[in-house]
Amino acid sequence: MLSVSLTVNGRPVTATVEPRTQLCELLREDLNLTGTHVGCEQGVCGACTVVVDGKPQRSCISYAGDSDGCSVITIEGFDDDALMEQLRDAFSRHHALQCGFCTPGMLVTARDIILRLGETGAARIREELSGNLCRCTGYVGIVEAIEEVSKGKVARAPQTVVAAIEGTVAVRPVDAPMKPAVPPNRPAAPTASAGVGARKGWSSIEQRLAVGFPPEIVWNRLSDIRQVSFCLPGAEITELQDDRVRGRMNVSLGPIKVALNGDGNVLLDAENRIGRLSGRGQDAGSGSSAEGEVEWRVLPGEASGSLILVNLSWRLSGRLAQFNRAGIVQDVIQRLASIFVTNLESSLKGEAIDETSIKPLGIWSLMLGVIRIRVARWRGRNA
Ligand code: FES
Ligand code: FES
Repeated sequence: MLSVSLTVNGRPVTATVEPRTQLCELLREDLNLTGTHVGCEQGVCGACTVVVDGKPQRSCISYAGDSDGCSVITIEGFDDDALMEQLRDAFSRHHALQCGFCTPGMLVTARDIILRLGETGAARIREELSGNLCRCTGYVGIVEAIEEVSKGKVARAPQTVVAAIEGTVAVRPVDAPMKPAVPPNRPAAPTASAGVGARKGWSSIEQRLAVGFPPEIVWNRLSDIRQVSFCLPGAEITELQDDRVRGRMNVSLGPIKVALNGDGNVLLDAENRIGRLSGRGQDAGSGSSAEGEVEWRVLPGEASGSLILVNLSWRLSGRLAQFNRAGIVQDVIQRLASIFVTNLESSLKGEAIDETSIKPLGIWSLMLGVIRIRVARWRGRNA
């Protein structure tokens, strides 16, 4: 069991949770904040969206243990929020809800859209709402309501999410003590990755992963692409020759099931401990395709451990493109990163990797995964 201390709707909360406890479970079952709805439980519908440290997050694919030290705001916490009041009123006037199941998540997302973008139009609102599903309304009223409330509003500067999605997710083990994953004086990200996300039509995200093994050991493992692939959810390398790699990736996110076949190039700079994989894949059935690049750099971390800086960039088309949105991407990547760190550490320790952790989780693991594996029994170590 883990002890977590966080702030929920401005109130300090301390709870004892299991490592597998979802944040939504803690909110609904332990704190009785049932305004957070749970639909798909796999990060697709958006009904469970809450605000964590200022950003919308899917509480069904967030571990309660990862929320230690965080500030969480649920729909109940916006009772006195002026912008939310305008949104509630507009939703009501525009008939933007029927059964109301999606509404808490819609409102939380709508508020974030307006704060980030200020005044905006229907097309952009629809794009931003692509991670929130409504089975009743047909979305017209929802979009109209948000557009109306956005009128005259100014974006909160600076915008952290723009057309080319960019973001940073700090990942720490579920049961690690609350501390920054990266020391404040951390080394700069590798310059080779600068500008990757700025490519037209591409999105990018940066990850910083703390691992409890020295850099040389971590680098050796991350240089072995075939071994690493064993820890990739849904990934399989079928051919590896010099710097060329061929493989397949099964993507399963809620209703989206795609089998991407593709190839890519691997570049490894052992001297600087920098690796890069770029590739593309195609799913004949759905017509979805993905291009991606991942660059990783292994640096000395805290307490003789390592810090892995990862920069992911990608471009999606076809059915997969609906996941090309910051909220979903960050949530899924955060989940995947936790699995990655766990699997990598297990692998480094010579432990078996938990089979349930390597089932297909998402396209992001195709890119993140090439440098992944792990899974440490942090629980066992800290028990
Ligand atoms: Fe969390 Fe559907 S319940 S996204
Ligand atoms: Fe029923 Fe959206 S109002 S799901």
